[in-house]
Amino acid sequence: MATKALITGINGQDGSYLTELLLEQDYEVHGIIRRASTFNTGRINHLYQDPHESGARLFLHYGDITDSTNLGRLLNEIAPDEVYHLAAQSHVRVSFDQPEYTGDTTGLGTTRMLEAIRGSGAKPRFYQASSSEMFGAVRETPQTELTPFCPQSPYGAAKVYAYWMTVNYRDAYGFHASNGILFNHESPRRDPRFVTRKITRAVAHIREGLQDKLYLGNLDSKRDWGHAQDYVRAMWLMVQQDEPDDYVVATGETHSVREFLVHAFTHVGLNWEDYVEIDPRYLRPTDVNLLLGDASKAREKLGWEPELTFADLVTAMVDADIRLLEEQKSGILGPESRAVREFG
Ligand code: NAP
Ligand code: GDD
Repeated sequence: MATKALITGINGQDGSYLTELLLEQDYEVHGIIRRASTFNTGRINHLYQDPHESGARLFLHYGDITDSTNLGRLLNEIAPDEVYHLAAQSHVRVSFDQPEYTGDTTGLGTTRMLEAIRGSGAKPRFYQASSSEMFGAVRETPQTELTPFCPQSPYGAAKVYAYWMTVNYRDAYGFHASNGILFNHESPRRDPRFVTRKITRAVAHIREGLQDKLYLGNLDSKRDWGHAQDYVRAMWLMVQQDEPDDYVVATGETHSVREFLVHAFTHVGLNWEDYVEIDPRYLRPTDVNLLLGDASKAREKLGWEPELTFADLVTAMVDADIRLLEEQKSGILGPESRAVREFG
């Protein structure tokens, strides 16, 4: 029988790559999506299979991580072997505008999933999408699994709570529950409200004369940026281990937003300084200035290595945004898929 996985946040950036990885390995994949007033499955449409056809291995269910009765019912009905809990309000800047909601989804959402599993009586393996944002005002560099947390945002604080709840269910109830402490990871499927995709999308538009300026906030901030495709492989590897544990997943290189700008604009022969302006709206009440991860444990115990470099990531994202714009211009994409890809 096929191994059954349940993914929350399946239509997000990571959910879509993880679904591809699991389907390639003959899993039966179940995903939870929220009802939205517009289509929100743009990242997984290419994987869609009619659930009534024999051989279908991808099944979507309506649900929400703020709705515990729904989560309990889904856990009972699906009885998964593995649960990948990726759903969250994942935008750090937005978490300052919506601290309570972020606590409810990004923090308590994990407790609701863990409780739904406990109530179901089944013992699926559990993956928690923890974050380098938990290190916040970093106490040491590079950051490892032993570096103390010092979150600098409501999002970071909610993720610290979720991290410790995952550890607690492992210790208290014997759950096979692991935290992946993932550093920033990006891709052409990244939402354009995160800085990397905001930049690469703007580069494509500026190159075509469709945009004059790019407004950004803190350019000095440094991140350890990897590719999402590499990072979902690390998630899966954690869940396959005999013993649950917590792992840092990072490239071991850090680059500033300014360096990202240089690479992205230079790739199309433009000078970023001609286009970028600072807009204080994009500054945060408190920001995380430097993240740099040490993924030695993941390398040694999981055999995980990132395959794509920072330069690969930037050029892949710029090229994908140029291609997307060309498809839109030539009318290959219908208005609906255009909207989904633009905003999804
Ligand atoms: P993302 O693209 O923002 O995806 C988040 C997913 O969560 C979306 O599918 C979203 O659904 C879903 N979601 C949000 N609120 C929900 C709710 N109340 N009920 C059900 N689903 C809900 O994020 P990502 O980049 O794939 O990241 C996946 C996870 O890893 C997140 O928990 C994030 O915090 C964490 N993480 C990400 C990074 C990174 O650099 N990408 C690094 C460390 C940790 P909608 O489409 O309906 O909004
Ligand atoms: N979003 C955004 N927009 N960020 C900007 C901008 C802008 O216009 N200008 C500068 N930045 C800076 C932010 O202040 C931050 O220091 C850095 O760019 C990265 O911001 P984001 O791309 O929004 O990502 P993040 O690091 O805050 O959060 C991401 O990574 C975390 C892992 O460390 C998200 O994916 C989180 O969900 C994830 O946990």
